[in-house]
Amino acid sequence: MLSQSLIAFFEDSALADSIRENDILFPLIESIHVLAISLVIGSILAVDLRLLGLASVGRSVSRVTSGVLPLTWCAFVVAVGSGGLLFISNATKYLANGYFVAKMLLIAAAGINMLVFHALSTRDLPRWENAARPPLRARLAGGLSILLWVAVVACGRWIGFTMKVG
Ligand code: HEM
Repeated sequence: MLSQSLIAFFEDSALADSIRENDILFPLIESIHVLAISLVIGSILAVDLRLLGLASVGRSVSRVTSGVLPLTWCAFVVAVGSGGLLFISNATKYLANGYFVAKMLLIAAAGINMLVFHALSTRDLPRWENAARPPLRARLAGGLSILLWVAVVACGRWIGFTMKVG
C-alpha cells in the first residue's frame, strides 16, 4: 500500500502540521468534505433511482445522467481533495483505522460498479433508456450503487468515532 516514507513525507509536511495544529482548519475542511459528499451522494442517488425505475421515469436515462453527472464529478474532486487534506493530517492513524480502509475499498467498489454498468449498457442503452422500468442489470447496478455509497457514508462517519487519540 502507501510506503512508510511517502506517509511520513505527507504527515510531516508544513501543510499537515497546520491542519493538525490549527483549531479552525480541520473542522473547516471537514465541513467542505461533508458538503461535497452530500452533492456526490445526492446526485448519484438521482441517477440510481432512475435506473431502479423509482424516479424521473418520464425522462430518459441519458437525459438524467447528462444533467447530473457533471455536478457529481465536480463534487467528487472536491470530496477527494478535502478528504486528502484531512487524511494527511493524521495519515498513520487513518491507515490503522479499519473504517477508513473499508471506506476507501467501498469507494473503489462503487467506481468499479459504475464502470461495469457503463461498459455493459452503453451498447444497447438507446433500446431501453426511455422505459419506466429499465432491464434487471440496470436496476441491479443502481441498487448496488446505493448500498455501496450508504456504506461509504456510514464508514466515513464511524472513522471519527473510532480514531485513536493521542
Ligand atoms: C466521495 C467519496 C467520499 C465520501 C462519500 C466520504 C464520506 C465521508 C463521511 C460521511 C465522513 C464523516 C464526516 C463527518 O460526519 O464528520 C468522512 C470523513 C472523512 N473522510 Fe471522507 N468521504 C469520501 C472521500 C474521501 C477520500 C477520497 C478521503 C481520503 C483520501 C477521505 C478521507 C476522510 C477523512 C480523513 C475523514 C475524517 C474522519 C474524522 O477524523 O472524523 N474521504 N468522509
